[in-house]
Amino acid sequence: MRMVDLIEKKRNGFSHTKEEIDFIIEGYSNGEIPEYQMSAWAMAIFFQDMNEEERADLTNAMVQSGDVIDLSDIEGVKVDKHSTGGVGDTTTLVLAPLVASVGVPVAKMSGRGLGHTGGTIDKLESIPGFNVEITNQQFIDLVNKNKAAVIGQTQNLTPADKKLYGLRDVTATVNSIPLIASSIMSKKIASGADAIVLDVKTGAGAFMKELDESKELAKAMVKIGNDLGRKTSAVISDMSQPLGFAIGNALEVKEAVETLQGNGPKDLTDLCLELGSHMVVLAGKADTLDEAKQMLEEVIQNGKALEHFKVFAESQGGDASVIEDVEKLPKASNIVEVTAETDGYVSGIVADQIGTAAMMLGAGRATKTSEIDLAVGLELRKKIGDKVSKGDSLATIHANTDQIDDIKSKILQSFTISEDSVEAQPLIYDVIS
Ligand code: URA
Ligand code: CA
Repeated sequence: MRMVDLIEKKRNGFSHTKEEIDFIIEGYSNGEIPEYQMSAWAMAIFFQDMNEEERADLTNAMVQSGDVIDLSDIEGVKVDKHSTGGVGDTTTLVLAPLVASVGVPVAKMSGRGLGHTGGTIDKLESIPGFNVEITNQQFIDLVNKNKAAVIGQTQNLTPADKKLYGLRDVTATVNSIPLIASSIMSKKIASGADAIVLDVKTGAGAFMKELDESKELAKAMVKIGNDLGRKTSAVISDMSQPLGFAIGNALEVKEAVETLQGNGPKDLTDLCLELGSHMVVLAGKADTLDEAKQMLEEVIQNGKALEHFKVFAESQGGDASVIEDVEKLPKASNIVEVTAETDGYVSGIVADQIGTAAMMLGAGRATKTSEIDLAVGLELRKKIGDKVSKGDSLATIHANTDQIDDIKSKILQSFTISEDSVEAQPLIYDVIS
């Protein structure tokens, strides 16, 4: 086989066989296929797409390019959840203890990554002592004992995807449904999930800004998962504004605690109940989504979900007293309100800009070596549809610097205030299973 012939074949709109896809991914991984040929191929995929079989074959080839985590020593159906981007998405922090408390094993392997805020691991490290540097055996034992554990990603997962994603980033080929779907699914499958719940965001703050694109991506990922033997469902949720109120590491832990107590923001609570219900059903712990949702509402009301968060944090060395008293979480020194300059109704909040503001405060990493400040971030005081009067707080800045003028104006600019009242968008647009 020659790569140049395969590029031509795809350029002309033909489909690849499994052998061809394996040849491409193996050759690219081991350096035999150069970046320029892989770039041309990615661009051919961008224009010519892939059929369902090719998508599953590509995903599988990327899974096989590195380690595949074996979670078979964990009892029960391991359900993983993945959200496609978004700003201030606190769902994982809530969902892990929530579904674990009804008996669904949550074995979470997480990286640190780049972004507006840290990853799940960084957020959890706001709990003093919380340690994710545990051995695989400790990880498996903890999930068996407590139904939930988080481990830092040390293994070499899907190196082919890592390399290809880097190439796509600089060749204008990121935005391709078959390439995104196989990229995301390969990582979930390599990390050992038996079943997968996808939270596909849509709207201005999402990767996919249009609803029809988001649906197409969700369908593509569900099909790949099912074709590769993983029960997969997807929920399409709104990311036209940030989810919940908190954007920042310790701030999101506080928000997660409040949500587990039943006092969280409505959108975050509703989305966690929806995603959690799918996880419970896929794990075989309930027959219907309604039944699953009732189970989850019950553990929030009777305190079991919050108790589970404490046990889970304590088992990984964390000081669980901060979960009882969130005032003990890391705190920023400079707390400033951003106030409305006019009366009206919030008609838009540009999630991306809010995310950038959080990052400028130091809540996220701009480069792999940036240090994160766990205490800083933002709390939104108003969301789309809310009425505001001049002088009302739109958001609270938690900073560890006095130089916040740029950040303040960025936040102000990201809010649109209109004279007429506006309806809030739906939170959940569709479910694909
Ligand atoms: N996230 C991924 O992991 N891969 C993509 O291709 C796009 C978003
Ligand atoms: Ca949030």
